[in-house]
Amino acid sequence: MSKVTVVGAGNVGATAANVLAINEVASEVVLIDIKEGLAEGKAMDIMQTAQLIGFDTVVKGVTNDYSKTAGSQVVVVTSGIPRKPGMTREDLIGVNAGIVKSVVSSVLKYSPNAILVMVSNPMDTMAYLTLKSLGLPRNRVIGMGGALDSSRFKYFLSQALKCNQNEVDGMVIGGHGDTTMIPLARLASYKGIPVSSLLSAKKLDEVVKSTMVGGATLTGLLGTSAWMAPGAAISFLVESIVKDQKKMIPCSTFLNGEYGMSDITIGVPCIIGKKGIEKVVELKLNADEKAKLAASEAAVRKTNAVLNDMKLI
Ligand code: NAI
Ligand code: 2OP
Repeated sequence: MSKVTVVGAGNVGATAANVLAINEVASEVVLIDIKEGLAEGKAMDIMQTAQLIGFDTVVKGVTNDYSKTAGSQVVVVTSGIPRKPGMTREDLIGVNAGIVKSVVSSVLKYSPNAILVMVSNPMDTMAYLTLKSLGLPRNRVIGMGGALDSSRFKYFLSQALKCNQNEVDGMVIGGHGDTTMIPLARLASYKGIPVSSLLSAKKLDEVVKSTMVGGATLTGLLGTSAWMAPGAAISFLVESIVKDQKKMIPCSTFLNGEYGMSDITIGVPCIIGKKGIEKVVELKLNADEKAKLAASEAAVRKTNAVLNDMKLI
């Protein structure tokens, strides 16, 4: 018996609940939103697919009643406003910080031991805000960004290589922002073969650039930010927690000296299991990658400083 709550029944939250149910990641998924009837409607719609698809997960929807989320092992926070074309993730900070703070305190009243998966943007800063304002141990606050960015990286690599996506491996670290994420092209591979030996430097650079603006490209096409891959990436991450899979997934985590950084939440590879962040994996980065990570660190710290300016922490 495992219970997962998803806060925010909008595009990303409802898609995450749907994928969690289809893959039977948890026995119960509670979808909660502030908008009257929205979560109930999305949950009922998902439940009416159960016999068509053949899953047993029970999805429940509630309007702002946190008592129904009690005893959740994992709580995913997607509540907040999404990007509109022309907006950066950082533009969302003021509104989303207020929503994230109030939602997380309500969640913890009923699920004091839950692992929190932060999705609302700017995600690295929202994860930092949650850790700093609630004083939670770092293993319990996980920022979801790297799982999504890495899946976009693998997609663009497979397009360039004209191969099966499932046979490509690659990772994106750094902040979850168009200019702050770092697709690790040097370490990406196709069936163990370094992609740098299969693609020209120019082609690989194009793949890296497409990955970095992957979210913005979709925002331009859709008029709001994407939800299919974000929802699936949330389910992938939650499954590693609920089933204690110990997968290595790049996640935004609070660093205590790893990669030479402290007092920041930023994307690095982590081992994800039932305790949440169970280990931070330190990669041997080359000089170029180190410089990119330093620039990413500076950008994330600049966004975090807005929390201080707005007296949110
Ligand atoms: P959406 O607008 O479709 O859904 C947001 C939902 O949050 C709405 O249903 C709204 O009623 C709800 N909400 C607002 N205040 C609330 C509160 N106090 N309590 C409960 N629910 C509340 O937006 P979408 O597309 O689902 O995006 C959600 C967030 O996720 C955005 O901040 C977006 O930027 C972010 N995002 C992050 C990604 C990542 O990789 N970290 C990927 C995609 C989106
Ligand atoms: C995305 O990467 C905007 O964070 C959102 O699609």
